[in-house]
Amino acid sequence: MRLSRYFLPVLKEDPKEAQIVSHRLMLRAGMIKQQAAGIYSWLPLGFKVLKRIEQIVHEEQQRAGHIPMLMPTLQPADLWRESGRYDDYGEEMLRVTDRHKRDLLYGPTNEEMITDIFRAHVNSYKDLPLTLYHIQWKFRDEIRPRFGVMRGREFLMKDGYNFDLTKEDALHAYNRHLVSYLRSYERMGLQAIPMRADGGPIGGDYTHEFLVLAETGESEVFYDSQITDLTFGDRQIDYDDVAECQAVLEEFTSRYARTDETHDQEVFDQIPEERRRTARGIEVGQIFYFGTKYSEAMGATVRTSDSTQVPVHMGSHGIGVSRLLGAIIEANHDDKGIIWPEGVTPFHVGIVNLKQGDNSTDSACQAIYAELQHRGLDPLYDDRDERAGAKFASMDLIGLPWRITVGPRGLTNNKVELTCRRTGQSEELSPADAIHRVAQIYQPMLGLTVQDR
Ligand SMILES: Nc1ncnc2c1ncn2[C@@H]1O[C@H](COP(=O)(O)OP(=O)(O)OP(=O)(O)O)[C@@H](O)[C@H]1O
Ligand SMILES: [Mg+2]
Repeated sequence: MRLSRYFLPVLKEDPKEAQIVSHRLMLRAGMIKQQAAGIYSWLPLGFKVLKRIEQIVHEEQQRAGHIPMLMPTLQPADLWRESGRYDDYGEEMLRVTDRHKRDLLYGPTNEEMITDIFRAHVNSYKDLPLTLYHIQWKFRDEIRPRFGVMRGREFLMKDGYNFDLTKEDALHAYNRHLVSYLRSYERMGLQAIPMRADGGPIGGDYTHEFLVLAETGESEVFYDSQITDLTFGDRQIDYDDVAECQAVLEEFTSRYARTDETHDQEVFDQIPEERRRTARGIEVGQIFYFGTKYSEAMGATVRTSDSTQVPVHMGSHGIGVSRLLGAIIEANHDDKGIIWPEGVTPFHVGIVNLKQGDNSTDSACQAIYAELQHRGLDPLYDDRDERAGAKFASMDLIGLPWRITVGPRGLTNNKVELTCRRTGQSEELSPADAIHRVAQIYQPMLGLTVQDR
């Protein structure tokens, strides 16, 4: 993309309505525009990051064997009357009536609808296990929408649902979700810690929330500092291997890590004092095994091998896709702007032309731009007729991890500058070497072939 042809409405001033840094930077970098309280348009730059996050979630869910589909945003109220949640959900549910006076609602989640789909089409234990998921907009009429996309009313969520014959099978599905979530967050450059959550009225030990540590987080969290040393990394996992998935769950949940809702001071105090941490966190996902709650209420049963009918064991598992943009920025920024992790950056690299209109500089930029694209990368070329300082400021604000700066002086020695946004360090390289370096950095993420020179 050439910046002169793009739509990037950056703001010079700090917007007054933004109380936290991610909200402020998303507005300043022209990523979102508020249309009503907690309802946003996703401008091109924000939309690009949203799509990158979605893509990671899709890839990791499908790697775990979970099947993508799409359910509508509007749902018939009758389904929710069957589960009893139409009355229980309260004011957070946005209720709509159509011209035939039929009650609809804008889905805050999809347990009822997916159970309805399951009972319509699955009859036999032979069709299990099954995990379906979608990434769809949700609506919750939050009493206090705030912090931009972190607590919106309309927000994008990945929600997945497993159907299994037995509790053991459903717990394997739970573990698969835990592993796939760890992988997803790490690919986004985030450490999200699974913390024991509150099972609510259904109870049970089988629910964890994933929290990203950040001062602006809404949850108070308590954890053993050893937990932050754990990373999943690029180890291979066989998602069909029950013991292997269980071992990951044990590795990541055996140390103390809880939110204020489940915190137990007595247990916490048994950890050596120097390892006890109290902090704040942003909830970016939750996994939940709830047994037969919905399958019993809605008649989602299967025939077993001895021809009896049993309700299926279910769980639901959510990732806050749109909230993740805020969480990633909270964890990755400095006073100049955003610093995107390579896994989610809207553009892989920025090209800054220091002397627009100068023939040799323009054509060098153009050649670098074309070659980066040829290598499968997505560069943003700042070809505007602006001062260097203004170009650097926009690049720093929008946070591309790498920048190639091209000017007439360097070009006389066949040199450009490659700058890392995170460290601020620059290196003088030939254009070919700069391109090669950037391609190498992204190779593991994109599966690109880095051509040997
Ligand atoms: N209002 C919201 N705006 C943006 N993302 C949200 C919102 N509510 C929930 N999410 C995201 O969707 C994920 C799955 O939804 P879940 O039903 O677990 O939310 P929740 O526990 O009610 O969230 P919270 O406690 O933050 O209100 C959450 O972990 C969170 O990342
Ligand atoms: Mg939750």
